[in-house]
Amino acid sequence: QRVDFLQLMINSQNSKIKESHKALSDVEIVAQSINFIFAGYETTSSALSFASYLLAIHPDVQKKLQDEIDATLSNKVPATYDTLLQMEYLDMVVNETLRLYPIAGRLERVCKTDVEINGVFIPKGTVVMVPTFALHKDPKYWPEPEEFRPERFSKKNQDSINPYVYLPFGNGPRNCIGMRLALINMKVALVRVLQNFSFQPCKETQIPLKLCKHGLLQPENPILLKVVSRDETISGA
Ligand code: HEM
Ligand SMILES: *[C@@H]1O[C@H](CO)[C@@H](O)[C@H](O)[C@H]1NC(C)=O
Ligand SMILES: *[C@@H]1O[C@H](CO)[C@@H](O)[C@H](O)[C@H]1NC(C)=O
Repeated sequence: QRVDFLQLMINSQNSKIKESHKALSDVEIVAQSINFIFAGYETTSSALSFASYLLAIHPDVQKKLQDEIDATLSNKVPATYDTLLQMEYLDMVVNETLRLYPIAGRLERVCKTDVEINGVFIPKGTVVMVPTFALHKDPKYWPEPEEFRPERFSKKNQDSINPYVYLPFGNGPRNCIGMRLALINMKVALVRVLQNFSFQPCKETQIPLKLCKHGLLQPENPILLKVVSRDETISGA
């Protein structure tokens, strides 16, 4: 017996609800497990690659983030849930990374009934696409949208962000179920690495980075960076 999602799914087969629609078949359990690994692992990993790239080519932002991390966690102690939530600049950096690189570049919904919105008639059954990637780069909402500027998410500016224009995790009843885990997970990883190391571009780094044109948002080529120790007593990289 474990306290996890897989166990919950297995329990659905053993209990009284076995004959009801709530019990999952073996195939459904496997499908849900694969879905969670894909939805949860690949997305977080790609977002972290993009964040590392952006920090490497914006040393001022990286320095400011490391200053916040060092001020919050003296002597390089590991982060805790509470200290992670305290770090405002970290939150801003993660959000700005997902604005420039929203891993799911578009959202989809199926229209359940005939409807008219702003004079546009949408018949029942139509697949409606929400262009997250384009919305995240619309100059009407984001001045100089191609620029990496965590300040867009500062306390002062935060309220002007429209939750239907910034959609890294979607929105509504079917938004990303793993959002909180994903954000915490990314922050743990970034803090742990940035406490001891800095990212730098190297001659193999493609700047500007070219994106793959199909499927989930991915770089065309793997992101290659140089990792430098922050501990001055260790020489080299
Ligand atoms: C940086 C990491 C992640 C990003 C950018 C991301 C993004 C998204 C987006 C955009 C959607 C669609 C939302 C919508 O249509 O409104 C979604 C759905 C979903 N995500 Fe994530 N996700 C991430 C991490 C995770 C993690 C860690 C998990 C699980 C542990 C997860 C599980 C799911 C599931 C199960 C759905 C489908 C929800 C439903 O249809 O009700 N995701 N995600
Ligand atoms: C960053 O994004 C997350 C989720 O999209 C949101 O909950 C949080 O309030 C945002 N932070 C800022 C400073 O806008
Ligand atoms: C970071 O450096 C500290 C002190 O030198 C060390 O104790 C810790 O294990 C290092 N952490 C990582 C992730 O390398």
